[in-house]
Amino acid sequence: MSMTLKSDAPIVTENVARLKPYHPGKPIEEVQRELGLTDIIKLASNENPLGPSPKALEAMQAAINKVALYPEGAAPVLRAMLAKIHGISEDSLVFGNGSDEILHLVCATFLAPGKDSTVQADPTFAMYEIYATLADAEVVKVPLVNYTHDLDAMADAVTDKTRIVFIANPNNPTGTLVTQRQVERFLNRLPERVILVSDEAYDDYVESPEKPNLLPFVKERRNVIISHTFSKVHALAGLRVGYAMAPPAMAGYMNRARSPFNVNLVGQAAAVASLGDTEHVRVSVALNSAEKRRIYAALEKEHIQFVQSEANFVLIDVERDSREVFDLLLRCGIIVRAGYALGLPNHIRVTIGTPDQNTRFLTELLAVMR
Ligand SMILES: Cc1ncc(COP(=O)(O)O)c(C=O)c1O
Repeated sequence: MSMTLKSDAPIVTENVARLKPYHPGKPIEEVQRELGLTDIIKLASNENPLGPSPKALEAMQAAINKVALYPEGAAPVLRAMLAKIHGISEDSLVFGNGSDEILHLVCATFLAPGKDSTVQADPTFAMYEIYATLADAEVVKVPLVNYTHDLDAMADAVTDKTRIVFIANPNNPTGTLVTQRQVERFLNRLPERVILVSDEAYDDYVESPEKPNLLPFVKERRNVIISHTFSKVHALAGLRVGYAMAPPAMAGYMNRARSPFNVNLVGQAAAVASLGDTEHVRVSVALNSAEKRRIYAALEKEHIQFVQSEANFVLIDVERDSREVFDLLLRCGIIVRAGYALGLPNHIRVTIGTPDQNTRFLTELLAVMR
């Protein structure tokens, strides 16, 4: 502990001092203010370009009239619905203020500060490292191979101190998938005390027939936690709703660590309505699939390298400092993610948008690349 109020001494513990800031996708409003542009598209944070289901919008409007009251802390309606959809018991579910909070809860609940360590890929979703560091755990990073999790090397990196292994499946920022067979093999190599966190934020977009299903392991009460979100295909990123599926004993401890009203009333209502609109999900996934193929074809034609994605974004090799490309696109009113902040300095990550947005992005990207 190094907390003291003396001005020349650190004001936080050593692990908090180690935290690196998270760099989110640039908001449209910020670009408007900075560049004075009006026609801006954001393809930077893997949101659904179609927006929420009309049913969810209607439910949000109705729910707004009730916000003087606290939400139901246990989210019972959403809980019952998800339990039915996934075929799990209601006490296997934990809700979070976005799946970010699920990851936070996992670290806060299961990591012994100063003792435990976590294993993750590099690069992968930034919040694993941030929450593990906040819980004062050591973070072991295992480089991707071919833009994909190297599960053998990750299993080799597990030690007596390892408590949590994170897998983003598909991975962010690469969009790559590890298959059922690969995950099963990996899981069987993990010592019993290690918890596998399978972050499936982009699960709905996966087209591969080898898409894993780890729910049977949760039902068998193995140390597996699956994380899902309403921020991606359900297009409710601004409302912050995510959830975990875990064996009831684990979910129970996470629920004790959770703030009592962490998922707001409007978010709960919207999530319930969105789950009821499977057609909106289907249309969103179909659009993503078709547009992904169109983007691939345009890039291939120009011999621009990219990574095949199972998600709603594509990682593109721009063969130069990605900040240059990012800035040029920004001046055209197109916000993407520069791989610089994602550990892939010569790549950009672009969210698959509407056909118009993608055409605009491709036109400007090809001009920049030429
Ligand atoms: C792999 C992955 N996990 C989790 C999240 C967090 O999403 P949210 O907190 O909006 O549910 C993201 C967001 O981009 C992500 O890419």
